[in-house]
Amino acid sequence: MKKIAVLTSGGDAPGMNAAIRAVVRSGIYRKVKVYGIDQGYKGLLENRFREMTLGSVGDIIHRGGTILRTARSMEFMEEKGVLQAVSNLKEQGIEGLIVIGGDGSIHGARSLEEKGFPTISIPATIDNDVGCTDHTIGFSTALNTVCDAINKVRDTATSHGRVFLIEVMGRECGYLALMAGLAGGAESVLIPEVKTDLDSVVRKIRSGMERGKLHSIILVAEGFGDIFEISKYLKVKGHETRNIVLGHIQRGGTPSAEDRNLASLMGGKAVELLLKGEHGLMTGFMHNQVEGYPYDEVLKKQNFIDHDVYELMKILSI
Ligand code: F6P
Repeated sequence: MKKIAVLTSGGDAPGMNAAIRAVVRSGIYRKVKVYGIDQGYKGLLENRFREMTLGSVGDIIHRGGTILRTARSMEFMEEKGVLQAVSNLKEQGIEGLIVIGGDGSIHGARSLEEKGFPTISIPATIDNDVGCTDHTIGFSTALNTVCDAINKVRDTATSHGRVFLIEVMGRECGYLALMAGLAGGAESVLIPEVKTDLDSVVRKIRSGMERGKLHSIILVAEGFGDIFEISKYLKVKGHETRNIVLGHIQRGGTPSAEDRNLASLMGGKAVELLLKGEHGLMTGFMHNQVEGYPYDEVLKKQNFIDHDVYELMKILSI
């Protein structure tokens, strides 16, 4: 291969820039031209290619967001869009594409593969909801962000003796909320993977108060339900709450060292695989090693929650 391209797609995640840097510099080291595509699949359909240089990825390893920008493209979801994308890539003389993004983006890469275009994906999403990898790029930073928010809320919650509901992102997946609850010592964590009766939450608030607890912090994964409805229910049961939606704050910020290293390892591996002629794979981090895993395995519907971890969180948050 002489020319490859890289794009970031879907929701941004801290560490995407470190992955772009690793792809560009590993590619140039291996004597291929590397093109960046602006705004993901949308930019691919609009032919927005630019040649990347060693300097174009300087000073970005520590920055959140993505210098290539990102988008969610409806057009690319249609077969016509995929065919157009392949034709645009070929017209530029690009022989392989590296896609950095979450499961929707990896589905997109698989569609390109199905039309005969070689791709490698790098999992990047704060949701940590992609198969064949212990962690996705961005998860570690988001976890720290949520944890930091819990610490701050705890100060004021304790001072006032209040109950707080904090909504955590994750789409249909409760992994970020669960791990943040474990790390932040939240009293309850409501996630879509575990059916929870709100009366058990009420009982927990009460038993905590009886033991002299000064606060209750309840994390609600966005996939579980509307925190304002939960708040109304708790109010009826005699517990007024303060409600916080952390929102897109969770997607920003300086990437953690763990995310930067994961991104660097995956970026390097993606180029190595593509240039060896291996494709249709996602770089996954398991058993302390980054390897390529086939898309079909990666995209299998699965549950990311370890129920033993959930039970432990409950035991520790008594
Ligand atoms: O997939 C990342 C994520 O931040 C999810 O946690 C969230 O549900 C979604 O993206 C929000 O998407 P948007 O940025 O389009 O509002």
